[in-house]
Amino acid sequence: MTSTDSTQNAPAEAAAAAKAPAKAPAKDPWDLPDVSGLVVGVLGGTGDQGRGLAYRLARAGQKVIIGSRAADRARSAADELGLGVEGADNAECARRSDIVIIAVPWEGHAKTLEALREELAGKLVVDCVNPLGFDKQGAYALQVEEGSAAQQAAALLPDSRVTAAFHHLSAVLLQDESVEEIDTDVMVLGEVRADTDIVQALAARIPGMRGVFAGRLRNAHQVESLVANLISTNRRYKAHSGLRVTDV
Ligand SMILES: NC(=O)c1ccc[n+]([C@@H]2O[C@H](COP(=O)([O-])OP(=O)(O)OC[C@H]3O[C@@H](n4cnc5c(N)ncnc54)[C@H](OP(=O)(O)O)[C@@H]3O)[C@@H](O)[C@H]2O)c1
Repeated sequence: MTSTDSTQNAPAEAAAAAKAPAKAPAKDPWDLPDVSGLVVGVLGGTGDQGRGLAYRLARAGQKVIIGSRAADRARSAADELGLGVEGADNAECARRSDIVIIAVPWEGHAKTLEALREELAGKLVVDCVNPLGFDKQGAYALQVEEGSAAQQAAALLPDSRVTAAFHHLSAVLLQDESVEEIDTDVMVLGEVRADTDIVQALAARIPGMRGVFAGRLRNAHQVESLVANLISTNRRYKAHSGLRVTDV
């Protein structure tokens, strides 16, 4: 018998196990933080998607600031929405917000973020940009050098907490005041669990919606690209389709 025989080590291992602190029980993934006091800014909030998200979040009681390249455009969009929504230029919107949703077109994504690196430092950034092209056959996913819009955001904003979410929503439904509930899940991606938890909680503020963790930013490309498929579905069925992740 050698000294590495497991039976000889067993008493020592049992003693060590008895001394080790008890493992904390796994956290319930649906135990999400209270985000009701956080200010949400929406860059490009004068557009369909940004305005729709601003409307839904403000209707749920969240403080929302719409951002634009022109402060007066943001203020008129905010006035139209009411619900305490404010308007500001993109820089002021970023500065005054805790969570900043990026809702500008892919063409303006890199330039917008580069210009706001300082204002966005320390902020929880939520990218919902889908890099898509359109031709006679419909929508298709563009190849992005960094891998995805979200990864481009993370590369351009090293001092921000970059996440990605809200890609699959219909801006038409978001803006339709007669729609009480938005029947969809929101796939939430990011590197830090505390940040993705906040974004999941934010999505859950909107009736009918649920935020579901869907991985790290390196998997954002598929999530962004899937919108091309949803656009095809919408055209075929004349619908505003959403997504549900089952068994969670
Ligand atoms: N529409 C949807 O259903 C939907 C759903 C999910 C995700 N998204 C994503 O959300 C983003 C916005 O979509 P959208 O349909 O709302 O787009 P949009 O209306 O074309 O643009 C949104 C706003 O971005 C600003 N903008 C326009 N060109 C810009 C540029 N080159 N640089 C910086 N800002 C610019 C404009 O605001 P100002 O002129 O006031 O600055 C515009 O009102 C897109 O990336 C899209 O992939 C859209």
